[in-house]
Amino acid sequence: MLEIQGLRKTFAGFVAVNDVSLTIEARQIVAVIGPNGAGKSTFFNLITGHLRPDTGRVVLDGHDVTGLPPHRICRLGMGRSFQLTNIFPRLTVLQNVQAGLLAHRGRGRDFWSRSETMFRDDAEALLQSIGLAAVADVIAGTLAYGNQKQLELGIALASDPRVLLLDEPTAGMSAGETHETISLLQRIAEERGLTLLFTEHDMAVVFRIAQKIAVLYQGRKLAEGPPAEVRVNPEVRRVYLGEHA
Ligand SMILES: Nc1ncnc2c1ncn2[C@@H]1O[C@H](COP(=O)(O)OP(=O)(O)OP(=O)(O)O)[C@@H](O)[C@H]1O
Ligand SMILES: [Mg+2]
Repeated sequence: MLEIQGLRKTFAGFVAVNDVSLTIEARQIVAVIGPNGAGKSTFFNLITGHLRPDTGRVVLDGHDVTGLPPHRICRLGMGRSFQLTNIFPRLTVLQNVQAGLLAHRGRGRDFWSRSETMFRDDAEALLQSIGLAAVADVIAGTLAYGNQKQLELGIALASDPRVLLLDEPTAGMSAGETHETISLLQRIAEERGLTLLFTEHDMAVVFRIAQKIAVLYQGRKLAEGPPAEVRVNPEVRRVYLGEHA
């Protein structure tokens, strides 16, 4: 589903992502872990088109998407969320999801409709599925932090992605919010047959849902494999897990 070959990115001579390759099968759930500054967000930005790689290729379901702008990659089926929450804080929860649907589908023949009515049913269904239906009319910026992150997931889902990249989906959440969000992610991935690539600092979350883990360290891929294998990899323990476990 996603074939990443030799991605490299330098910032003024500093190598942030150093020849990283990764293959992700359809419906696989893959975690990218590594200490702060390891290059995880940069790696995601290279995949989604928010940054242009110096070298390397990104192939999404047979399409070479390397160097395409983010909206084109999104149209080909790749959605994402950001490490920092990225919602419209002054719009309602429902309007946020409607905006996502509108951005993806366009107005089509529905040119004369008022924006409030556009995709209302689909937006409500989406909110239902992510557990935010009860707060549909709440101004998004006033939601609890965990719910804002869930809304961001809803906006990403509005583009009907097949592959979803989530940069620290539970960052800053309480233990309860984290648990809820992970269960939600698992259910949505299952229901929609999604392929998931996510970064995460919470090892409990990583080992709970990842089927494969790639470890980045100083821009390089240090290890890759099933969780049980990565967990006992001596190099990984030394540079990363040792700090936490
Ligand atoms: N636009 C940029 N210009 C210069 N350096 C950058 C830029 N973006 C990232 N970097 C540097 O590249 C390295 C990797 O950063 P990145 O944000 O990808 O790490 P990360 O693994 O996501 O870290 P964190 O766990 O803290 O989110 C860091 O040293 C960072 O300072
Ligand atoms: Mg990051």
